[in-house]
Amino acid sequence: MVNEFSAILQKRVSRRTALQLGAGVSASTMLASAPLYALTKRPMAKNVKSAAFDLTFASVPKAYTKNLTVAQGYQARVLMRWGDKILPIAQDATAAQVQARCFGYNNDFIAYLPISGSSHGILHVNHEYTNAHLMFPNTDTKTSNDTLTDEQLRIEQQAHGFSTLEVRKDNKGQWQTVENSNYARRVTATTPIAISGAAAGSPRMQTTADPSGRLVLGTLGNCSGGVTPWGTVLVAEENIDGYFVNQTIGREAKSHQRYTIARRSYYGWQRIDDRFNVAIEPNEPNRFGWVVEYDPRNPNSQPVKRTALGRFKHETATCATTPDGRVVIYSGDDDYFEYIYRFVSKHKISSGRKDLLDHGTLSVAKFAEDGTLTWLPLIYGKGRLTQANGFTSQADVLIEARRAGDILGATKMDRPEGIAVQPYSQHVCVSLTKNPKRKATNAANPRANNKAGHIVKMIPPAGDHAANEFLWNMHILAGDPDSDNPDYDGRIHKSGWFGNPDNLTFHPNGNLWIATDGMPKAYGVADGLYATNSKVKPKAFLCAPKGAEVTGPCFTPDGETLFVSIQHPGEDKGSSFDNPSTRWPDFKDNRPPRPSIIVVTKV
Ligand code: FEO
Ligand code: CA
Ligand code: CA
Repeated sequence: MVNEFSAILQKRVSRRTALQLGAGVSASTMLASAPLYALTKRPMAKNVKSAAFDLTFASVPKAYTKNLTVAQGYQARVLMRWGDKILPIAQDATAAQVQARCFGYNNDFIAYLPISGSSHGILHVNHEYTNAHLMFPNTDTKTSNDTLTDEQLRIEQQAHGFSTLEVRKDNKGQWQTVENSNYARRVTATTPIAISGAAAGSPRMQTTADPSGRLVLGTLGNCSGGVTPWGTVLVAEENIDGYFVNQTIGREAKSHQRYTIARRSYYGWQRIDDRFNVAIEPNEPNRFGWVVEYDPRNPNSQPVKRTALGRFKHETATCATTPDGRVVIYSGDDDYFEYIYRFVSKHKISSGRKDLLDHGTLSVAKFAEDGTLTWLPLIYGKGRLTQANGFTSQADVLIEARRAGDILGATKMDRPEGIAVQPYSQHVCVSLTKNPKRKATNAANPRANNKAGHIVKMIPPAGDHAANEFLWNMHILAGDPDSDNPDYDGRIHKSGWFGNPDNLTFHPNGNLWIATDGMPKAYGVADGLYATNSKVKPKAFLCAPKGAEVTGPCFTPDGETLFVSIQHPGEDKGSSFDNPSTRWPDFKDNRPPRPSIIVVTKV
C-alpha cells in the first residue's frame, strides 16, 4: 500500500499538490491531493434550481460512523483538504514551507465572497488549531507535543491561520477550486499582521521583537468570523491560551490568569520561539485574542488586528448594519461564565473610511429577568472603569475586556458561540453551547449543570442594532427529549433534537442552520448540522464522521450551495495517526483523517 500510494503521489506532486508531513519521516506520511472525491455515488446534479435548501428533507437518523451522512436528495463532495496545494511550491521547499503554501489544518469559518454571483467566488477559510497526534506518526496522545521535532512544530505553525481560495462552478455545475488564482493566500502563525485601534502601541503590547506594539507575527485560534458590509473578512481569535507556557510574575500575572494563559499548555512552540514563553515575553499573549480584518480581494494586503473590538476568546464576529448606516459587530467570548459583546462603529459605512473598526463603542450584554437586555459600554474613565480599578487607558480596558465586563456586572453566559442575524427580522440568535459548571442560574442561562446548551434571541428595537436596550427571549432549550426536558416550541422530529449548539447561520430564505459541537461526548452520537424555522421544528441535515465537528456553514447568496467545514475528524479519545477512529475523507491505509471543506448541493 505504501509503495502504491507513493507512486500515485509521485505523479500528483508535480501536477498539483504536496504536503510532506513530518519532514521525510516516512513516505507513508506524504499526502497528495486527489481529484475531487464524491462522497456519494448519486448522479451529479445539473442545473440546480431554487428551493435547494428548504426544510422538506427527511431528518437524518442519529448515528456515529466513520463516514459523513447527508440528507437524502443531496450530494456532499470534498472541495479542499488539509495539505491540498494553494500556492506554487518551490522544488527545494522544506515540509514547513510546503505547509505554508497548502491548505491548513482544522478548517472552521467559511466565507463566500462573490466574484460573479453565486457561481464564481472567493472562499475564505479559517484554520483554528492543530492535532499533532493525528497529523504525525508516533504521537499517539495529545500530550506528546514534547516529542515533536522542531520541523513538526513549524508545520503546526504553518497549518494555522487562514486560507483564501478561488472557486467556481464548472460547465457541469460542479464546484472546483481555481488553480494559480490571483486571490490565493495563506496567512499563518508567522505572517506579519498590523495592530490598530486604541490598544495599538500600548506598552502592554510591546515585545522584544516589536518595540512599537503595532506589528505581531501571526493569528491563532481562528474560530468563526464574519463578513463586513464592505466585503472584508473578520477572523475571530478564540483559544489563544494554550500556545503559551510558564506563568509570568509582575504586571501581567493577574490578567493572564483571567485569560487562562499558559494554564493548559498544548503546543510546545516555545521550543522554537521564545515569544511563546511568557516568562521571557510577558506581553506576547496580549497580542492575541483579537479580531483580525483581511481584504480577500487584495491578496497583497496586510491583515489588521482591530483592538477596538476587545480582547477575549472571540468565537465569532458577526456583522449587522444600523438604520443610520453604521456597522455593528456581535461577538461572544466562548468560555464558561463569559460574556456577549457588541461593537458599534462611530462612523458610517458610507464614509468609506478604512479605519471604521478602529473607532466606536464596545459594550457588554446584561440580560434582565423581565426580558430586557442592556448594553453596558466599556469606556475608560466611565463608571468604574477607572484608575481606582486598575485601568489607566482605553488600551487597558480593551486588553482586559473580561475584567471590565466583570466590573460592570455583565451576565455570565454558558459559553457563547455562534451568533447570526436573521436577514428579515434582524433578530440576533446566540448559541450557548453548554456549561456543566453552572450552579446558580439566571434567566438567560436557566439550567444548572447545563449539558445540552440553548439558543437565545436578542431583539433590537425596530431593527436598531445600536440601541442601548434590546428585548430578548429563549429561542430553543436544546437537548434530548428523553433526558433533558428541552423546549423546541413544539413537537420535535424523531432525529431532529440536538445538543451543544455552536455555529449558526441563516439561509438567504431566513431559515436557521445550527451546527453542533459536543454531541459525541454528551450523547454518544455524531455532531451535525440542523435546520429549523418558526414552522418547522429542527431536523438533522448532516451527520459528521467520527470525532468531527461541523463548522463554518456558509450558503452562496442564491441559497443553492452550502459550504461546510468538517473539522477534527478522528478526534475521539484514544484515536491517533497510527490508529485513527476514521480515515475520512480518503479512507486509504496509512493516510490520516483530514479536515476538509465539503460542498453540498441538491441532486
Ligand atoms: Fe472554536 Fe468555540 O469554537
Ligand atoms: Ca465553535
Ligand atoms: Ca465549540
